[in-house]
Amino acid sequence: MNKDILTKTVSHLLLPSKGILAIDENLNTCNKRFEKLDIPATVEKRREYRELLITAPEIEKYISGYILFDETIRQNTKDNKSFISVLQSKGIEIGIKVDKGVEEFSPDSSEKITEGLDGLSDRLREYKNMGATFAKWRAIYNIGENIPSPKCIKANANIFAQYAHICQRQDIVPIIEPEILIDGDYTVEKCYEITAKNLDIIFSELQNADIFIPGIILKTNMIISGKEATVQASAEKVAEMTIKCLKEHVPNNIGGIVFLSGGQSDEKATLNLNAMHQIANLPWPLTFSYGRAIQNKALRSWAQNSKDTVIIQKLLLESAKINSLASVGKYQSK
Ligand code: G3H
Repeated sequence: MNKDILTKTVSHLLLPSKGILAIDENLNTCNKRFEKLDIPATVEKRREYRELLITAPEIEKYISGYILFDETIRQNTKDNKSFISVLQSKGIEIGIKVDKGVEEFSPDSSEKITEGLDGLSDRLREYKNMGATFAKWRAIYNIGENIPSPKCIKANANIFAQYAHICQRQDIVPIIEPEILIDGDYTVEKCYEITAKNLDIIFSELQNADIFIPGIILKTNMIISGKEATVQASAEKVAEMTIKCLKEHVPNNIGGIVFLSGGQSDEKATLNLNAMHQIANLPWPLTFSYGRAIQNKALRSWAQNSKDTVIIQKLLLESAKINSLASVGKYQSK
């Protein structure tokens, strides 16, 4: 493990006013999003869409890294430039989703465990040779009666530690993404309680495995009310509780923290991040790593008129820009 390489990648990814764009939807998720908008779920359509996201002019002003999916990292533009070379020419770091999705944790529970450690070392070696400098692994948790259970939390945390160890051995920065799903009617306090417990267990596993903490990035959910909750916490409340939770349950020397948007509206994801940056003295870089909240408008526009690439890329740029402003607390809603 070369700590200098890891910290350099982290610093480059978390430069002030920049964030990470996640375009790493797996085939299933990407196809579902396409089908909802009557877009054919084909390899070529996915390539065409990702080409627009990757070649958007000036996106590098706001985005420091792209997280890609295995299919995408191997693809080229229609004039035959590799996606990787396009991103590298803009000074953007290449990230790769390396988990293989989730499975039932046990036959009698609805909880999920993330898979993909088998062969990970070889896969990472290949991605690194292609130009990847960081990776992402996601675990998901539903809040419900007696879930997430301590057993499932611990099992996923242990897998995070193994994944991080394999990444760091190859000087690849691991993004650790434990996502409390937005589904449900839970309160913001419940979200705090579960996220805090989960983070405690994850960092204890990471520390036991001697993971180099300044060389990792945590990608987490914000502390919010469940989607179906009748009372929805305000941006100020979300900001206050999220920062409190992160300050109390994440080591201060972590490389940085980024957020997933998780199905919040685009506007809420931006406002919440902006509100967090009204709070002084954050001990770590804190920015976005959104998928939907940055892609939504561009994807809808592409579905309506795939030929209008200027408009589609402008919409992407606009979403990246407002989140860049939010990441330094300078976003003002219209
Ligand atoms: O794994 C999820 C992505 O990395 C973030 O996507 O912002 O749409 O939740 P999202």
